[in-house]
Amino acid sequence: MSNPNEPLTLLGDLTPEEFLKSYWQQKPLLIRGAIPDFVSPLDPDELAGLACEPGVEARLVEEEGPDGPWQVSAGPFDDATFERLPAGHWSLLVQAVDHYVPGVAALMKEFDFLPGWRLDDIMVSYAPPGGSVGPHVDQYDVFLLQGRGQRRWQLGGKQPDDAPIIQGIDLKILETFEIEPDSDWTLNPGDMLYLPPGWAHHGVSQTDNCMTYSVGFRALSADEAITSFADYLGEQLPGSQRYSDAGMAPAEHTGELDDAAIERMRHFILSTLDQPKELAQWFGRAMTQPKYMDQVMPLEEPLGEEDLVAQLHAGEPLFHMPGSRIAWRTEAGVTTLFADGDGLPCTEPLARRIADPAPLYADVLELEGAVAVLTYLVNAGSLAFMDDDDE
Ligand code: SIN
Ligand code: CO
Repeated sequence: MSNPNEPLTLLGDLTPEEFLKSYWQQKPLLIRGAIPDFVSPLDPDELAGLACEPGVEARLVEEEGPDGPWQVSAGPFDDATFERLPAGHWSLLVQAVDHYVPGVAALMKEFDFLPGWRLDDIMVSYAPPGGSVGPHVDQYDVFLLQGRGQRRWQLGGKQPDDAPIIQGIDLKILETFEIEPDSDWTLNPGDMLYLPPGWAHHGVSQTDNCMTYSVGFRALSADEAITSFADYLGEQLPGSQRYSDAGMAPAEHTGELDDAAIERMRHFILSTLDQPKELAQWFGRAMTQPKYMDQVMPLEEPLGEEDLVAQLHAGEPLFHMPGSRIAWRTEAGVTTLFADGDGLPCTEPLARRIADPAPLYADVLELEGAVAVLTYLVNAGSLAFMDDDDE
């Protein structure tokens, strides 16, 4: 973990505390040399290769596509797609590259001053000269790290929710984009731009090898939070818990929904929802939902506890499955480990150890309850011994 009071090169020599206090969710920050001598862990051909694989979320944005301006197509692509593309003015965007390329996943460690469950994924883009996705806003925080070549970024300030977007195209491009003073920069490899949600930005490739890494964060919308929590809670509420109006006054008009009825319902809903313990249990599950459900799959043939112990003792480490998300919380002395949308009782030392992205060796077995919890997580697909094929 980063020391919150130690200046970080990644943050332009701000401490994590200073960055979080003054920039995070508030205003952009340009950081020259955030990762000095940064070497992109993958090249454009490797990114194109990933975009051809089924199950990988990839998009191609063509400013002048065969079917119209700002055409967006979804992968998987094939060689023929790339062969027909012009020399410039298009972008290839591949989502969750950290799930597939360990060198990209390793970048996540740089951001450990933020809770891991806030991170969503690392998207990687490639663009020839002129390639962009147009001026737009994103609804989440993002660190835009230049990986290769150069991209020119221009910022257009915080946008209102109803900022007009161009109609009739596949992308949400802003109708008007006014560049803010002192917000026009060309980023080189290792330079990084932090943007809070809702900030207009436009990044255009300046070179024939432009690769940009977008480290994106996850935040539930009000709609997602309310419907998801209500769903979780709803499953546990007895059917006998109902709207009630004992002691009410006689109806003045039989068809009227009066103020007292509305107030009773408001109180009923708010008091039913106001359950901090259940909220914590839901939140841990919600924030550890895998990005892609098929990424963390239960084992078809479950592993037994003895086999798990034997493999660890034989020196085989347990790894976190790519895309697996883990968090924990201790409340009133009781710890819950949240793993990929599930919650299970655990001791705090074990939960801390499992939530650390480092592989787990036999010494983890010394922690109370380790065998049962680790076996559960292997069978759920959150942890795995490396296949012989991968070695
Ligand atoms: C890109 O990498 O081309 C676009 C990233 C962004 O604007 O969010
Ligand atoms: Co964006």
